[in-house]
Amino acid sequence: MKSAKPYIEEHKQRFIDELIELLKIPSISADSAYKKDVITTASVVKESLEKAGCDAVEICETPGYPIVFGERILDKNLPTVLVYGHYDVQPPDPLDLWHSPPFDPVIKKTELHPEGAIFARGSCDDKGQMYMHVKALEYMTETGQLPCNVKFMIEGEEEIGSESLEWFVKRNQEKLANDVILISDTGMIAPDIPSITTGLRGLSYVEVEVTGPNRDLHSGLYGGAVANPVNVLTKMIASLHDENNHITIPGFYDAVEVLSAEERAKMAEAPFSKEAYCKALDIEDVYGEAGYSTNERNSIRPTLDVNGIWGGYTGEGAKTVIASKAYAKISMRLVPDQDWKKITELFKNHFESIAPKAVKVEVKPHHGGQAYVTPIDSIGYQAASKAYENTFGKTPIPQRSGGSIPIVALFEKELKSKTILMGFGLDSDAIHSPNEHFGIWNYLKGIETIPQFYNEFNKLMS
Ligand code: BES
Ligand code: MN
Ligand code: MN
Repeated sequence: MKSAKPYIEEHKQRFIDELIELLKIPSISADSAYKKDVITTASVVKESLEKAGCDAVEICETPGYPIVFGERILDKNLPTVLVYGHYDVQPPDPLDLWHSPPFDPVIKKTELHPEGAIFARGSCDDKGQMYMHVKALEYMTETGQLPCNVKFMIEGEEEIGSESLEWFVKRNQEKLANDVILISDTGMIAPDIPSITTGLRGLSYVEVEVTGPNRDLHSGLYGGAVANPVNVLTKMIASLHDENNHITIPGFYDAVEVLSAEERAKMAEAPFSKEAYCKALDIEDVYGEAGYSTNERNSIRPTLDVNGIWGGYTGEGAKTVIASKAYAKISMRLVPDQDWKKITELFKNHFESIAPKAVKVEVKPHHGGQAYVTPIDSIGYQAASKAYENTFGKTPIPQRSGGSIPIVALFEKELKSKTILMGFGLDSDAIHSPNEHFGIWNYLKGIETIPQFYNEFNKLMS
């Protein structure tokens, strides 16, 4: 296959402009106030797939947000690549920390993106990375080089747990039949250190509510004599880690996959500078489970984190009060072979058991999903590795990520195929944070590398 570079050079400005238009629509799946925008985004994605060369593109209705499905079938004897991505985005708050409005994309240069980066919510996660695939398809169809069949499945609920996608996948096995699933919704180590994501962590997300007295109380009249739910909740949460930052929930580590010394040594070969890591985050030191490196702590080890905590008076000035209730949202990142439903159960039982009699505790499970690891000797991985060699001139490093795309484990179960995670974002691209951005170089490099994957995959399959 010819290099896509000249085509990209010629159409670069349009590729950027089209992505900017897509980024202007606030497709925030978590907030029902944006329902219309989420639905509009699905139709914009549909049109873009039609223009890029899909024969048939449908907006598939689900109990939730629609799934855009498109395909181009050349010959049913050829291999089929299924591309997955998501068109929904995270809420942009806190808004005051953005240097430019989240849905008014601007291009700015940064230290890591000397060629400029597009600043907007969803630029990296995942509109920008999803759109690389649309433009890669355009290149292959326009130049008559599409080597195999392709299907696209782009959903609008990834950031809220992919419930409707699960529903859709279970009902459409035949429609989604494929030889490999290709996703760009992760990152890479650095522009000059290409990497392929070989693992994703699982997730269990819960909300807890601690109730003390039946009304808010004067903290002088009652203070010291009744349980303060905020005090109790924070104490309970603090007890979930021991002095080695091990999680104290009984049975939590029972199923955790233990990596061999060789595997850990291989992981340690990935370049990492603690100094640069700390500097980028403006912290004096890293923090985590004793006995593990930073790269291990955020990929092969499970975690428990408070994502939000509230209760009592948080307004201006001081109000002397003991709140009736306190709340927290807690996520647990899981690794192979922890079962997220089992972990949710263990958390619930433990959290209820450590509550003092003076309060009531309620644990409400949210969504979750299983961890995923993909072998590096599969045809898909080998094809991806060759694709990067062709465009980066270097063999990519396999790397396990700490993030989660719960639907990937479900794809393997329901569709019986492996997923290849070709991410082009950088950790510093601030996904889910204010000032999310995606490097233009990364965007174009993705468009250049993806067609190579199709070609190498097709070659290895025949
Ligand atoms: N694209 C991310 C996941 C990701 C990012 C994985 C970078 C690896 C590297 C995805 O959109 C996401 O944010 N997933 C959520 C889970 C979901 C159930 C809300 C996450 O990881 O918090
Ligand atoms: Mn994503
Ligand atoms: Mn995300």
